[in-house]
Amino acid sequence: MIQHTHDTILVVDFGAQYSQLIARRIREQHVYSRIVPYTISLDEIKAIGPKGIIFSGGPASVTAKDAPHPDKRIFALGIPILGICYGLQIISVLNKGAVMRPDRREYGFAHLTHIDPSSELLKGMPDASQVWMSHGDSVVHAPEGFICTASTENCPLAVVENHEKNIYGVQFHPEVVHSTEGYMIISNFVLDICKANTDWNVGSFIESEIERIKSIVGNKKVLCGLSGGVDSSVVAALIHKAIGNQLTCVFVNNGMLRKGEADLVIKIFRDTFKIPLRFADAEQHFLDALKGITDPELKRKTIGKVFIDVFEHEANEVKDVTFLAQGTLYPDVIESISPSGGPSATIKSHHNVGGLPETMNFKLLEPLRELFKDEVRELGKELGLPDEIVYRHPFPGPGLGVRCVGEITKERLDTLREVDAIFIDEIKKAGLYGEIWQALACLLPVKSVGVQGDERTYREVCSLRAVTSEDAMTADWFRFPPEVLQRAASRICNEVAGVNRVLYDITSKPPGTIEWE
Ligand code: XMP
Repeated sequence: MIQHTHDTILVVDFGAQYSQLIARRIREQHVYSRIVPYTISLDEIKAIGPKGIIFSGGPASVTAKDAPHPDKRIFALGIPILGICYGLQIISVLNKGAVMRPDRREYGFAHLTHIDPSSELLKGMPDASQVWMSHGDSVVHAPEGFICTASTENCPLAVVENHEKNIYGVQFHPEVVHSTEGYMIISNFVLDICKANTDWNVGSFIESEIERIKSIVGNKKVLCGLSGGVDSSVVAALIHKAIGNQLTCVFVNNGMLRKGEADLVIKIFRDTFKIPLRFADAEQHFLDALKGITDPELKRKTIGKVFIDVFEHEANEVKDVTFLAQGTLYPDVIESISPSGGPSATIKSHHNVGGLPETMNFKLLEPLRELFKDEVRELGKELGLPDEIVYRHPFPGPGLGVRCVGEITKERLDTLREVDAIFIDEIKKAGLYGEIWQALACLLPVKSVGVQGDERTYREVCSLRAVTSEDAMTADWFRFPPEVLQRAASRICNEVAGVNRVLYDITSKPPGTIEWE
């Protein structure tokens, strides 16, 4: 992990669904935040020297025998602490308060009342502010030395504060948007109580990261797999700014790209940014390898393997490459405790180009591994990438291959490419592209009977999907105005020869995943 000179707020993770959101809310205040597991030692905390600590929520009950808890001596460090939900409860039980499990868990909206004017945490919050509750346990006796500074109808001790020790707790979740003024609580804590410097911004990140890349790479060569997505594009632009033509990018046409994708990438990187770009046209190689395969996992593995072959070939051509650059983001690398609250730390790691590092003896260069997606987009803007790259919806590594349900053939991919292009075009025309996390089309191996121009048709079915999401971990289906879907469906049936029926997928995640395969 990089040592930052920025003031840091630590988010101590008790297995919460929302730890990443807490970290993001802090960074939105231009303060650097970092998520650490609750098992972090006192020495490690001291070494980081945070300006403040936030205890996250978590799925466990503090009343359970093996409930996760931090080193109790953390309260004596003199560092301000804010506990959220489980975080408040753990502060309570470790400081002579009491927590009980009522018959019913409280879930949903509540309103903060009886706000104490002396509250430091709730400064500026209007009375009856809406907050989001999601808890089983409740604090029934405030911890020793704490005062209650706000309540809700079902939760008398909704906010507690100890001004002398600078320790605070809230039962609800200020980090979620449903807590409409929650950001004020985070801001009051981070800026007023912790007095953290607001020195975390994209400009300062670019400066320090360029220096870091230069010192790591020296005069060696770097190879970057470019996909046309925002992450790899930002990585390439940033590294190029640091080391110029020591960077070579490789763009692989696997035959499963979106319409116009290869041209766009070449135009931007080779022609506009003047970054050395190798274009590996491997469409036939991929199609041959995928012939007859319908199993989703086997498809992914086959695509991954061919990708490695092609990439390896390109790397050999470039010669003497030491580093492989990847667009790994913070959510991919966060060390998170297991949901059961067990002590074992699981590290979520994700390689954009499946398994490349292990097989190819590169050193990894991952300049975005501290950033969230929205920060990467900001960085892309600052580096001068065009909006069509920066605000592009995410696209999976295996491309249209995981959207072409059933056997992958050139003909079916061409059909899907057209469907996808029409769907995205209609979304853009309706001005909705920016409201959607990801929109996609799948071609299904199902034929249905239709009628067009008095003729019977018997063609494949496509399914459209658009979701809203914060981080792709969960997602909800996007509510289109019906006329947008109608236009898309009508154009698809009229303009794409292979399709005569259009479905709209209204499955949220969970239970569905965003991609079909
Ligand atoms: P799922 O389908 O698991 O996808 O809900 C979550 C997000 O990840 C993207 N995705 C991938 N991205 N390589 C990637 O770089 C992959 O193999 C891959 N599979 C899914 C997906 O598009 C969505 O944004």
